[in-house]
Amino acid sequence: MVSWRLPEEERNELISFRRELHQHPELSWQEFETSRRVFERLEALGLTPRRMAKTGVVAEVGSQEGPVVALRADLDALPIQEATDLPFASEHQGVMHACGHDAHTACLMVVAKRLVANPPSYGRVRLIFQPAEEDTDGADMMIREGVLADPEPIAIYGAHVWSQMPSGYVGVNAGPTMGSVDHLEIEITGRGGHGAVPHTAIDPIVAGANLVMSLQTLVSRRIDPMHSVVVSIGQFEAGTAFNVIPETAKLTGTVRTLEREAWEQIPALLETIVHQAVAAHGCEAKLTLTRSLRPLINHERETEVVRKVAQAYLPDERILPTKMLAGEDFSAFLEQIPGCFFFVGSAFEKSEADAMKAAPHHNPRFMLDEESFDLVVRILEDSARYELNEAHKAVL
Ligand code: NI
Repeated sequence: MVSWRLPEEERNELISFRRELHQHPELSWQEFETSRRVFERLEALGLTPRRMAKTGVVAEVGSQEGPVVALRADLDALPIQEATDLPFASEHQGVMHACGHDAHTACLMVVAKRLVANPPSYGRVRLIFQPAEEDTDGADMMIREGVLADPEPIAIYGAHVWSQMPSGYVGVNAGPTMGSVDHLEIEITGRGGHGAVPHTAIDPIVAGANLVMSLQTLVSRRIDPMHSVVVSIGQFEAGTAFNVIPETAKLTGTVRTLEREAWEQIPALLETIVHQAVAAHGCEAKLTLTRSLRPLINHERETEVVRKVAQAYLPDERILPTKMLAGEDFSAFLEQIPGCFFFVGSAFEKSEADAMKAAPHHNPRFMLDEESFDLVVRILEDSARYELNEAHKAVL
């Protein structure tokens, strides 16, 4: 087994760039400073970066002869007030890198540096610094602007540091790996009236309460139990006074699934449940379903590439088949070309059980073990080099 530790100079650069980004987080579509820092560093490496999708940056390293392999990092932070006491905590009020995208960007920059120092002799690597992952639209915008064209990459790889997996572990899973994200908005209309004479009114609160419960049958009774689906209602707003039956009630929530088949079934099933559940109480409902992200489905061959690369550094018991219902817009790339998105453990805790208790992503106390970052660099770089070597062998 090979040590995954980077040479000291690269490590120091990685950590210092990550801290610089952490101190200056920016929200989706506002990553102007972050984008400028990335652009300037790529230029300093002798590359010719170009801007894309407003705040995105793309650059290529390697030979014009042969195919392209893409590697992707994301740039944006979250509207969260940081509550860590890190010396490099956010200087921007109410904005925090609470998902680790600062680490992803810094890691990809080190990959760029290493590729420049030792460029592939056949083919090249396209480095994609993508904006607005949290907004769920950054990847789509980059694809619309042609990030996967001229020529289309033969594969794409991306990584997510994970605060609830011990440092020195990797999560890699073939097939359905991360959830779809749908936003659900339901407006229920009844007829207002006096709380003392409910039979002369039509109560949207009772209809809404029934609907909240009925929605759970989507998971338990309408979708194949072998498929993972979750429905959560996050808001239920209705009424103005204790003795008034209101005219309307409004619910918002999210539906998520790992499976493409379940994802396709969801709209029709929701329509049926919503209308029938409120009709039972004499109400009407208007359902608005916004489909933000598709399920993230890793391709078999590329998942094997990541696993093989990781095995050079880690024993098998540290390579876990991680999957989760959190969403990730890397799914948009995987709808277009083959690839794999994997997790790199970044918890300070040493056991899997203890790591689960660490502050989760999107939490004000979210923290990452910087020791873990070298593995992100290693696996991304090695996966790209592996692809280009294979492509070269095929034409020799
Ligand atoms: Ni993230």
